[in-house]
Amino acid sequence: MSDSGDSAPIDEVPPRTMISRVTKPGAHGSQSGWPEHPISAIIAGTGSHVPERVLTNADLEKMVDTSDQWITERTGMKERHISTDGEAASDIALIACQKALAEAGVKPEELDLIIVGTVTGDMPFPSTACVLQQRLGAPQATAFDISAGCTGFIYALSVARQFIITGTCKTALVVGVELLSKITDWTDRSTCVLFGDGSGAAVLKADPKPNTGILASYLAADGTGGQYLYMPAGGSRHPASVETVQQRMHTCKMHGNAIFKVAVRSMASAFRHLLRQTNLEPDDVKLLIPHQANLRIIEATAKLLKFPPERVFINIAKYGNTSSATTIIALDEARKDGRVLPGDVVMLVAFGAGLTWGGVAIRF
Ligand code: ACO
Repeated sequence: MSDSGDSAPIDEVPPRTMISRVTKPGAHGSQSGWPEHPISAIIAGTGSHVPERVLTNADLEKMVDTSDQWITERTGMKERHISTDGEAASDIALIACQKALAEAGVKPEELDLIIVGTVTGDMPFPSTACVLQQRLGAPQATAFDISAGCTGFIYALSVARQFIITGTCKTALVVGVELLSKITDWTDRSTCVLFGDGSGAAVLKADPKPNTGILASYLAADGTGGQYLYMPAGGSRHPASVETVQQRMHTCKMHGNAIFKVAVRSMASAFRHLLRQTNLEPDDVKLLIPHQANLRIIEATAKLLKFPPERVFINIAKYGNTSSATTIIALDEARKDGRVLPGDVVMLVAFGAGLTWGGVAIRF
């Protein structure tokens, strides 16, 4: 398995790419060719929550033909949190949202917008954002879900930022939640050891101060890679039937090796795009928070970028891959651990099913 990648192909995908830019502090939009945003979208609070039940590598050894040594060496994972039979995405997300709202000092009724990044919502419809709107008590909020695999939180955050900097809304709740355990084939050792359940949330507020909060975002997609990570049934292509259940078509299928290489290149590409958009240097970035899919992917990405490992946030050993929730759980932990101080710039980068990838640069 190659542990690094050439960034060229993914760096050259602007036609499919959505970017938004800010100017260098002090520069004028007219000089840089990009308009300055008169309103910033700041992160006023974050929260996270994982289910109580812990599944260790030792537990997995009893379920499939695997070992703690294989999982640790190949993925960096030691344990993950798994929801109970009755638990749904909104149950986990609700607690993360309440924590984020409490930190931000925002009441649910003040929310204009709720966006949830998820592929394992409570049900296909209504959206989990609508479920949360009702459960939180946020009747003024527009609410919808975004399906972008593990890049879901970054897509959702970027969309919410657009609503805020264009003046369309003032206060938004952005959620990443995933209960991948519910779509895992627990007889397939190549996937079942990787995933965990969890949620994180961020409250965004409009702020008149320029060059603060979310400085830039970069979103990209390449549908030709959809075959590498997908769930075949449950949609209009293969509606649920006895056959789809018997053939385990309601579980996640993955080509791990193909994803690995794309993951490294795409996260490195997102990071470079963010640097370019913000006119920042790697030294200006206090913390890089990559999607937590595999420790080797994270290390290879940092190596490719020549980014100091001590400034890369890693918590994969505790949670496994919680998909769209990894970056926001990590950001919440980093903030609560004191690793993010006022004025610090943090970059989140991720990749996922679609294929999708992207990143956001945030000044706290
Ligand atoms: N325990 C023991 N052996 C295993 C296991 C396991 N759990 N899983 C696979 N193996 C075996 C394979 O059968 C294979 O055996 P063989 O050589 O006899 O055929 C051997 O280990 C090596 O398999 P590889 O697939 O080549 O192992 P690799 O080093 O590539 O690691 C992994 C596999 C961990 C899946 C890696 O490819 C990876 O992390 N890929 C990216 C996955 C990813 O990021 N997915 C999510 C993306 S988006 C999202 O987050 C939802």
